[in-house]
Amino acid sequence: MKFFVINGPNLNLLGVREPELYGHETLLDIKEWLNSQKESEGHSFLWFQSNHEGEIIDHIHSGIDKADGIIINPGAFTHYSYAIRDAIESVNILTVEVHLSNIHSREDFRKTSVIKDVCIAQYFGLKKLSYLEGLKKLLTILQ
Ligand code: DQA
Repeated sequence: MKFFVINGPNLNLLGVREPELYGHETLLDIKEWLNSQKESEGHSFLWFQSNHEGEIIDHIHSGIDKADGIIINPGAFTHYSYAIRDAIESVNILTVEVHLSNIHSREDFRKTSVIKDVCIAQYFGLKKLSYLEGLKKLLTILQ
């Protein structure tokens, strides 16, 4: 199966960005770690990161007839991008929402996710394990 792993704004700075919240690993470290997990065997992953809302939307659209599932960490767009929400709803691709930090134990504005309702599950606060939990959830439905 083919999965899109989409990362939103500022996640290119993982490793240097607030490591007490997001950990010391870079996005590349997380990509390599996820690839090495037994759950990933036999599947392909297309990783994408952008700081731009429209590019993320275009990338979601490009998954039509290509991606079996999407793992998305929309970064701060989680909390207010109705456009990303609508893109996910439009493409009809099973999608899970993931976050490295615990969005429910931080500032109030982070407790709201406008994309939650168009995703099959939300994982947060597990650092890179959130991505693996997201993959496992997709696999339970797709396999
Ligand atoms: C984040 C949480 C968001 O609130 C924040 O804006 C991010 C990262 C996370 O992975 O914990 O950029 O999505």
